[in-house]
Amino acid sequence: MALKKLVNFSPLFAITVFVALVALLLKFYPKFNSQQKLFTAEQLALHNGTNDSLPILLGILGSVFDVTKGKSHYGPGGGYNHFAGRDASRAFVSGNFTGDGLTDSLHGLSSTEVKGVVEWREFYIRTYTYVGKLVGRYYDSQGNATKYLKGVEAKAARGAQLLEKQKKEEAKQPSCNSRWSQDEGGEVWCDVGFPRLVQRPLEIALTGKMSKRCACFTEDQLGQGGLETYEGCDFLSSRCRV
Ligand code: HEM
Ligand SMILES: *[C@@H]1O[C@H](CO)[C@@H](O)[C@H](O)[C@H]1NC(C)=O
Ligand SMILES: *[C@@H]1O[C@H](CO)[C@@H](O)[C@H](O)[C@H]1NC(C)=O
Ligand SMILES: *[C@@H]1O[C@H](CO)[C@@H](O)[C@H](O)[C@H]1NC(C)=O
Ligand SMILES: *[C@@H]1O[C@H](CO)[C@@H](O)[C@H](O)[C@H]1NC(C)=O
Repeated sequence: MALKKLVNFSPLFAITVFVALVALLLKFYPKFNSQQKLFTAEQLALHNGTNDSLPILLGILGSVFDVTKGKSHYGPGGGYNHFAGRDASRAFVSGNFTGDGLTDSLHGLSSTEVKGVVEWREFYIRTYTYVGKLVGRYYDSQGNATKYLKGVEAKAARGAQLLEKQKKEEAKQPSCNSRWSQDEGGEVWCDVGFPRLVQRPLEIALTGKMSKRCACFTEDQLGQGGLETYEGCDFLSSRCRV
């Protein structure tokens, strides 16, 4: 029967077929191939969108992605052309696309900012095709992660923990309602209690300029430290203009 026939295949033939299949897989699916392409900074620089016969490549944390399908962003004249042909990891959180701002160094950034860069790498993994590694700060000439990359990943993990802890902390104190309109400007209010500004921990405040948040406090909570009243707003007003 069919099963008997299968079992009767010569092992040599089976192995040959298997090896051929694996070879095909590796050829057509580079993702399965651990021998990724390694780029030098100079090679990567050729892929900045000026040469139509080369794909547009972008490096982030030393991972290189083909972003040709995002040509409108990354090609010549695109708003994010500065990211093409290089690793400008820092600019993903600094927003500084000029001169020395275009660096792969994350020196001095907070853990939550470093987490931001790692999240951008996740965006590229999801959205574009991974093509290899840039030899330099994040990968050595063997393609192994450097201690700098391991440090960045550890710091990002600490940033994630910190944000998680902050989220739990903020859940304990209800946030203000808020609205904003062109004519009337901004307004915050509390259904229960009184609006106060609360400073976030420095490490979180550094990112996104979200240094303070508005939360609602009951009258007997108002004595606790670190609560800032809105300018021009009564001490016991449930609504303040901002
Ligand atoms: C730190 C600052 C910023 C960074 C690093 C950044 C980065 C990026 C990148 C890499 C893309 C392309 C994403 C892709 O491949 O699809 C993008 C798209 C976009 N960005 Fe930003 N951005 C920044 C600030 C801003 C600001 C301030 C605005 C608006 C006021 C903005 C508006 C947009 C829009 C609308 C798109 C999508 C464009 C489209 O799909 O056609 N970005 N951004
Ligand atoms: C793109 O890279 C080439 C080769 O490195 C360089 O000559 C050219 O000035 C770059 N163009 C832009 C817009 O960055
Ligand atoms: C563009 O890239 C192709 C393929 O690598 C190369 O042969 C050609 O010389 C490049 N053109 C320019 C203007 O650099
Ligand atoms: C960008 O970074 C460079 C070098 O760190 C600095 O000189 C420049 O002032 C920065 N520009 C902006 C707009 O932050
Ligand atoms: C670096 O990579 C090589 C080959 O890719 C591997 O054999 C070696 O064990 C790696 N070294 C370290 C320290 O991870």
